[in-house]
Amino acid sequence: MGATGQRLDVSRAVAADLASIMAAERMDGYDQLVGRWSEEYHRSAMHDRRHAYFIVRLDGKPKGFAIVRDWNSPGRVCSVKRIAVTEPGCGYGRVLLSETLRAIFEETSGYRVWLGVFPDNDRARRAYEAVGFQREGLARGNAFFGGLHRDELIMSILRPDWLRIRRYLSASSALQLNHLVPPLCWPSFRRTDHLRQAGSSCLCIRWAVAAR
Ligand SMILES: CC(C)(COP(=O)(O)OP(=O)(O)OC[C@H]1O[C@@H](n2cnc3c(N)ncnc32)[C@H](O)[C@@H]1OP(=O)(O)O)[C@@H](O)C(=O)NCCC(=O)NCCS
Repeated sequence: MGATGQRLDVSRAVAADLASIMAAERMDGYDQLVGRWSEEYHRSAMHDRRHAYFIVRLDGKPKGFAIVRDWNSPGRVCSVKRIAVTEPGCGYGRVLLSETLRAIFEETSGYRVWLGVFPDNDRARRAYEAVGFQREGLARGNAFFGGLHRDELIMSILRPDWLRIRRYLSASSALQLNHLVPPLCWPSFRRTDHLRQAGSSCLCIRWAVAAR
């Protein structure tokens, strides 16, 4: 298993990223998992200050996006409205989520971040749990999706949870290099080697992706 030394970056998305965002939410099979918006709707959301868009890139190539709703709201509660990556199961989603949470808790006064996931979407649920989201319960008929009223599993992470994870990571010298990745991620990240670049933007990590 060799390392290819590719670079994974998470940053705020801009209008030029919309084509890749819309392509990601329209991936084959995703129509059963995530919503999709028109370009007009995305453009309006991207500029309405209520939404914040994040994009993950591998060597500059877009690999997925996350949309936060109620960014910096006075109620201090926001949600991850949508997330999708183009190559699921490679760990990109949890890095994107980790960085999105870091941005929320460091750049806003947000206290609670929640999301809804269809209960049978195990892959997404595992990625959420890996970055610290906890299950709260089933919200009946919470999503009108594909013409059906579907139940959603509600998950959340609170600021104290996130701070506890951060404290744990900074106390562990073994994890300092990849401290963006919470401890629950560790087992699956053993197959990779993360190196945080000294002096680089805090939204930028170097990730040596193990050849799979
Ligand atoms: C949800 C999503 C963003 C997560 O990102 P990701 O890069 O796939 O997540 P990761 O690779 O970090 O983690 C995926 C986890 O699911 C597991 N997994 C992978 N494929 C799986 C499958 N078919 N069934 C169940 N679990 C699966 C992985 O092993 C990993 O868990 P582990 O580390 O505990 O072993 C991504 O899967 C995605 O875009 N899915 C399609 C759209 C979607 O479902 N969006 C969320 C709607 S709420």
